[in-house]
Amino acid sequence: MKFSRDLFTAIALCALPSTLAAWTNLTLSDYKLSVTGYSSVIADLDKALPIRSVKEVLASANHENPDSSPKVKNLLTSFTWENVPGYNDASGLKWFPQGVTTSADATETGAYNGDVVNLVSWHCDYYYLGKRGSRISFINMNEGVKRAYRNVLLVEPTTGGAEPNFQAIAGLHAGGIFWYGDFLYVASTNTGVRVFDLRHIYEVSEGNGIGRVGSGYQAFGYDYVLPQVRSYNWVPKTGVDNFRWSYIGLDRTSSPARMIAGEYNTGAPNRLIHFDLDSSTKLLSADSQGVATASQAVSHGLTKIQGTVTINDKYYMTQSGGSLWTFSWKDGEIQNKDVFPSVPQDLSYQAGYGLWGLMEMPWNRHVFAIDHKKF
Ligand SMILES: *[C@@H]1O[C@H](CO)[C@@H](O)[C@H](O)[C@H]1NC(C)=O
Repeated sequence: MKFSRDLFTAIALCALPSTLAAWTNLTLSDYKLSVTGYSSVIADLDKALPIRSVKEVLASANHENPDSSPKVKNLLTSFTWENVPGYNDASGLKWFPQGVTTSADATETGAYNGDVVNLVSWHCDYYYLGKRGSRISFINMNEGVKRAYRNVLLVEPTTGGAEPNFQAIAGLHAGGIFWYGDFLYVASTNTGVRVFDLRHIYEVSEGNGIGRVGSGYQAFGYDYVLPQVRSYNWVPKTGVDNFRWSYIGLDRTSSPARMIAGEYNTGAPNRLIHFDLDSSTKLLSADSQGVATASQAVSHGLTKIQGTVTINDKYYMTQSGGSLWTFSWKDGEIQNKDVFPSVPQDLSYQAGYGLWGLMEMPWNRHVFAIDHKKF
């Protein structure tokens, strides 16, 4: 399927390069997401497991994020992951970092219940056949505190009742994330977006099982799990290629705030779509049936885009080769080459500071902020 579509796209590109490369507005009603109800299993899990706050998870940080200095242009700050005997997130091949968001996405003040926090998602596609799904690093960014993190496994509730259960989310690539209010939004490549509730982090027992084991709970050796509470599912439409939910981001510079989602493909065209957020529910604005319709949708000719955000209607896009592209209707498309020395991923904007990003490759694996105003 994918191969033949890419082949078709390649042929089409040869025939019509200028048409396909142009940025075009698309029909908004072609892009819809349908939301599920809040998981009824959460109330049962609340009774079965101790709930821990983000503050408690940060206080339990057990790995350090040393400063680093990758050759990234207009760098503001950078750090990497723990690499000590017996533990290595800096160059390990089991987990690859993908998505980034901060407490500046979560709240207007930039702090979440008083804490300054960065969150980073990781996939395990090459480890245990991806069955461990994905995890989130909670990084303590509070001033005056040694920067350190704790990894928390993402899980999905399964059955409720007196013995409720959860499982790892096998195959979740988590290519982009953003934090809005108490919710963590995670891109789910083929289905849409998954929503996790940071008010329901559970502490589980030591052990390599997953979910309910005997009368207790385990999570592949992790001490904490963060459960999914809702999902936004892509509503397919005849004549419209299924959208690839490769990465997502948050734009708080628009009114209302909005989510952006984008596609990674080796062929073009690719699409970027916005959905408005509801500032009171912290969910996507939807009709009475729970269907959210895009508020902006564009198509462009760039390939291998890994992450995006919009700031004051300007698009910023990272690309596999190390470029940072920008686009606005006024100034058009601009390529900034060699901004990143390795594969850049997701983006997240911190107002008044800069653009957070990350690189995934072993030994070139950094979380950093750049001065977006220089691009
Ligand atoms: C596309 O839509 C935006 C507003 O969403 C508008 O500013 C822009 O001019 C439109 N572009 C074209 C080519 O119509």
